[in-house]
Amino acid sequence: MQLWEFVHVTSKETIAELVPLCFGQNAAKTAQELVVFVVRKDLWRKRAKANLQYMDKVFGKNKPKKEQSSREKVARNYYGKLIPFAYADFLGIVGWLKYLMVLVMGLFKPMYREVRKSDMRIVAHKTCGLAAQTFMLSMAAEGYDTCPMEGSDTWRVKRILGIPRSAEINMIISCGIRKPEGVYGERFRIPFEEIYTEI
Ligand SMILES: Cc1cc2nc3c(=O)[nH]c(=O)nc-3n(C[C@H](O)[C@H](O)[C@H](O)COP(=O)(O)O)c2cc1C
Repeated sequence: MQLWEFVHVTSKETIAELVPLCFGQNAAKTAQELVVFVVRKDLWRKRAKANLQYMDKVFGKNKPKKEQSSREKVARNYYGKLIPFAYADFLGIVGWLKYLMVLVMGLFKPMYREVRKSDMRIVAHKTCGLAAQTFMLSMAAEGYDTCPMEGSDTWRVKRILGIPRSAEINMIISCGIRKPEGVYGERFRIPFEEIYTEI
C-alpha cells in the first residue's frame, strides 16, 4: 500500500526552524539535511486505487470474472475488498465491530486480528519504519551517517512543513557525516541470550 511520504529538508532556514521542534537535539542541530518519514494512512483509498489500476495494466482492463486467472482474482480481491475491509472505519467504531466479528470467526479458524483503527496505525507505522531502516542502511552503504529521531513536536513540525493533520510523523532522520566527538560512547547491546529464542 506504500502509505508513506518522505519530506527531504535541505533548506538551512527550514532546518533551523525544525531544531527547536526537535528539542534542540544535537542530531538535529548538526544535521546537513533531514528526512521526515510521514505515515499517510489517510491515503489508503488512493493507494488501493493505484494498485487496482496497476492490476489493469498487468492483467488487462474489464476482463470478465470467468476469464480471470486465480492470481488476478486474488490480487483484485485483496485491493478491492480486503484492503477496504481493513482500512474503512468511522471514529474507530467500525474497527471494534470488525474486531468482534474476527473474534467470533477466530474461534473456528486462524484469523487476521489487527483490524481496529489502532491496529491499522501500527501496521502503517511498521511499514514506514522499514522504509526508514532501508534508507539508513542505504545511507551507511554510501558512506553517510543518520540518526533516527522520535523526539519532536510532531504537530508543529507538520505545520511548518505543510503536512496535513491527518498524516502522522513516523520519525525524522538526520543525515550527514558523523564527527568522532558526536558519538556518545560505546554501543550497548542487551545480551543476545535475553532477546533470542530458538524453538
Ligand atoms: C524510532 C527511533 C527513535 C529515536 N529517537 C531518538 C531521538 O529522538 N533522539 C536521539 O538522540 N536518539 C533517538 N533514537 C536512538 C538513536 O538513534 C540511537 O542512537 C540509535 O538507534 C542506536 O543505534 P545503534 O546502537 O544501532 O547504533 C531513536 C531510535 C529509534 C529507533
